[in-house]
Amino acid sequence: MRNLFLSLTALFVSIALHAEDGYRLWLRYDRLKSPQPYLKSLTALRIGATPAAQTELTTAMEGLLGRPLPLLQKDPVDNTLLVGTPARLTAIAGLHIEKDLGSLGEEGFLIRSLTMAGKHVTLITANSDNGLLYGIFHFIRLLQTQQPILDLNISSVPSLPYRILDHWDNLNRTVERGYAGFSIWNWLTLPKYLDQRYTDYARANASIGINGTVLNNVNASPLILTPDFLEKAAALAGVFRPYGIKVYLSVNFASPITIGGLKSADPLDPAVQDWWKKKVDEVYRYIPDFGGFLVKANSEGQPGPQNYSRTHADGANMLADALAPHKGIVIWRAFVYSESSEDRAKQAYNEFRPLDGQFRKNVWVQVKNGPIDFQPREPFHPLFGAMPRTPLMLEFQLTQEYLGFSTHLVYLAPLFKECLEAGPVANTTAAGSSVASTITGMAGVANIGNDIDWCGHPFAQANWYAFGRLAWNHQLSPAAIADEWVRQTFTNNPAFVDTVKKIMLASREITVDYMTPLGLHHIMGYGHHYGPAPWYDKASRADWNPVYFHRADSAGIGFDRTAAGSNALQQYAPAARAQWENAGSCPDIWLLWWHHVAWDHRMQTGRTLWQELCHKYYTGVDSVRWMEKAWTSVKSQIDEQRARQITMLLSIQENEAVWWRDACLLYFRTFSRQPLPAGAEQPAHSLDYYEKLNFSYAPGTLR
Ligand code: GCU
Repeated sequence: MRNLFLSLTALFVSIALHAEDGYRLWLRYDRLKSPQPYLKSLTALRIGATPAAQTELTTAMEGLLGRPLPLLQKDPVDNTLLVGTPARLTAIAGLHIEKDLGSLGEEGFLIRSLTMAGKHVTLITANSDNGLLYGIFHFIRLLQTQQPILDLNISSVPSLPYRILDHWDNLNRTVERGYAGFSIWNWLTLPKYLDQRYTDYARANASIGINGTVLNNVNASPLILTPDFLEKAAALAGVFRPYGIKVYLSVNFASPITIGGLKSADPLDPAVQDWWKKKVDEVYRYIPDFGGFLVKANSEGQPGPQNYSRTHADGANMLADALAPHKGIVIWRAFVYSESSEDRAKQAYNEFRPLDGQFRKNVWVQVKNGPIDFQPREPFHPLFGAMPRTPLMLEFQLTQEYLGFSTHLVYLAPLFKECLEAGPVANTTAAGSSVASTITGMAGVANIGNDIDWCGHPFAQANWYAFGRLAWNHQLSPAAIADEWVRQTFTNNPAFVDTVKKIMLASREITVDYMTPLGLHHIMGYGHHYGPAPWYDKASRADWNPVYFHRADSAGIGFDRTAAGSNALQQYAPAARAQWENAGSCPDIWLLWWHHVAWDHRMQTGRTLWQELCHKYYTGVDSVRWMEKAWTSVKSQIDEQRARQITMLLSIQENEAVWWRDACLLYFRTFSRQPLPAGAEQPAHSLDYYEKLNFSYAPGTLR
């Protein structure tokens, strides 16, 4: 009886240990199917690293290889893994690799196979503890993805110095546009209770090279700067520090009034300047390596310098002066648009370009990838390349506000890459240069919450992963990143990897097809942004209404942004303009962004615009069905738990793709007055039905 009890307990423990609930992300470290080749070339470990780095490496090796690597205290034996910085390990200082180290900077790393006193050694080294940690994670990844390790010579340096996650987390733990539960920061139990999740969050970020985190929502509560919250933020900073991650905070521009008791927040008022200086000094007493402030000012109702007839530069510079003595930076967002008759797509450029050269050295201007707002597809923002004297941060959205929340499988690396590679950027930089060449940092609006699997959809983890990998190295291809992620997150099984990569790589274009094909944008439900509502025209501001963006009428559809219309085109370099300015040659994917086009306009495919629109929406739905079939063909290769979860989510995605298609086509045909394709699946409901759907409970909008 006792034996039976023991073996049942052992069985449950082993099931629990292997529960595939997604919590372990891409850092699963289960025993490899065939660890033999690695066991031969890794027989011992000589390490001089921080406790965090050493624990990560030894845990990973023991898990992946099935046994721990013996720790050496002195000279390497044959097949030693030699890991350390020259400062921590004299054996490395004796290798005379100063020149190689010289090119690695603060964060780069080197992994090299070499012979030391006749012994084969694999070296992981860097100039700093953070660099070493990145090298360790890279090495772990090589094993997880079953790469050869016998003859390595890898040196890697990040493309960008600032690689930051922006959390839109409120202090009451709701998350603006968050679809994965509540905030992971439990403000109530901080600073004394340090959830293991905080460490695992830091590990996951460090594994992909993310080196900063903004803890709170850009629609910031002033309370974040009160001592209570600074103490809590400091506790998080303490957990993140060993992983090379700096803490930043979003601040409310009116804080001197709301928590400081001043009458004004005018950036040119000496009392206000003094308040910020003292506040910043206080922040640094709590967090000595604090990164800086993120500010959303004079945008969507937030206070800012314009309340006092000052410019964005005046506001940013005041904060920059307070932060400069501590080497902190200001990240000032360019996401501004006011209620005006000017095309919303033009407003940020109009406002910020004249300010180029007026910002202090420690001000970064943060620009969303496109000029509207994280749509499934937008052209790159015209500010890229237009502010050569101002460092720019490129902001992407990982949380799927406009991409089906956390129920749609949409792999975003192709979207990120489309923007990074876009060009030629504006007139002031060399012709042919890309968005990537104009930035010094990347920020990703996090898709993380307290759901057990962090992101709500197993595949949403891939967007967090891809963001970090591209911020580290924007030359990586979406396919290469997907390959790594699938192998680490699920399995190295070739058929599985191959099929799932195909699904991932196609998914973004498929989503564009069933949501906003041919350059359509911002036609989602008002407020909550869930599902389609192209008919909506009741918002208090014109530029919050879908009808403002698609402009469908009996003549045609699309937003004329050429010289005959709003002339947003004018904000781009001539070579960029040339790709778009002519409706006859403008690539179909951008057509309705730039042009108002007649329903019977002949597309490059030979179809009329109406036929093409139908074709895209129908293809989008068919392609989701293809995704489901492809998934069904390989899902048995992984655990039942995640397989089932993904199957259910794909089925929701199919239903919602059908909803997008039917609602949009029924509505647009009231203008085109043309039929849906003969013989095609017909909508299950009338337009009226779709218009009456109500989603007041949709998550992510509470503040
Ligand atoms: C979008 C989003 C808002 C968010 C804003 C921003 O408009 O819907 O919730 O606050 O972007 O980026 O500031």
